[in-house]
Amino acid sequence: MSTNFEKHFEENVDNCSLEELRDILVNKSGNSKLANRFRALFNLKGVAEEFERNPEDARLATEYINECFADESELLKHEVAYVLGQTKNMVGAPYLRNVLADRNQQCMVRHEAAEGLGALGDVDSLTLLERFFKEDPLLEIRQTCELAIGRIKWQNSGAAKTEKLQDSLYSSIDPAPPLTLDSDFKIEELKKIMNDQDKPLFERYRAMFRLRDIGNDEACLALASGFDDPSALFKHEIAYVFGQIGNPVVVSKLIEVLNREQEAPMVRHEAAEALGSIAVDDVLPILKGHLNDKDDVVRESAIVALDMYEYENSNELEYAPA
Ligand SMILES: [Fe+2]
Ligand SMILES: [Fe+2]
Repeated sequence: MSTNFEKHFEENVDNCSLEELRDILVNKSGNSKLANRFRALFNLKGVAEEFERNPEDARLATEYINECFADESELLKHEVAYVLGQTKNMVGAPYLRNVLADRNQQCMVRHEAAEGLGALGDVDSLTLLERFFKEDPLLEIRQTCELAIGRIKWQNSGAAKTEKLQDSLYSSIDPAPPLTLDSDFKIEELKKIMNDQDKPLFERYRAMFRLRDIGNDEACLALASGFDDPSALFKHEIAYVFGQIGNPVVVSKLIEVLNREQEAPMVRHEAAEALGSIAVDDVLPILKGHLNDKDDVVRESAIVALDMYEYENSNELEYAPA
């Protein structure tokens, strides 16, 4: 999920109590709009992150966020898992473990739960992650577990302390850190590492995030070469970083991916949200065209992306001369 995405939804929901936020999140009334449920989620995230200053409220907010896993929406629940992974609050770890182990949860939700355990750097989850890395029938889950194991080991190794990394422009905790600045890789070399099927996925992701942090047109076009990868997981991450970078140079690539007939919903969903985040004019008719998409996660992403599009462009309207 992009930084823009989060910024959009973290405005305060009218000074609600934690319980009111929970009720909006879980749609207790039955008529909360999806965009408002996202807003409630990011407001609860803000409280869950404050575990040092206010541990009791942070624990409650984490519990309330967890209640949303009983919902149907794969899109909303994958975001719920993402949020629990980003808070640095370890109270969320057992909830994420439950979701990863629950084969009744949809693929994107379980994926994001495994990734969240990686983002938390949760050493206590290594055994579980190793198990699903070996035996899960879904490739996306096995690969996510592989990355999460890589990240947890990296975070708890000497390398995390000694490597020189570029300060991230983004607030997200990513599935892998960027490659270090110690070796001065050219964009072409990074592209080669990123697409090298023989290299460990963790290293390929490190090249991907290094390219993201470079972020110019050349780096973006190198990243776009990843859309030909055989792995849906890999391709969805490329679309995700495009939403963060916000460089319009990749709009046509994202549209092509969103319109692919045979592409995994996970990838098309992330392409739709990235387009909503980049929010240039050509994007509007494309997103509207997916409001009735055959895949629920793409349809709901189009709804949410259009909400973001309006937000990105409403600021402009406000400041436009009358
Ligand atoms: Fe993801
Ligand atoms: Fe996503």
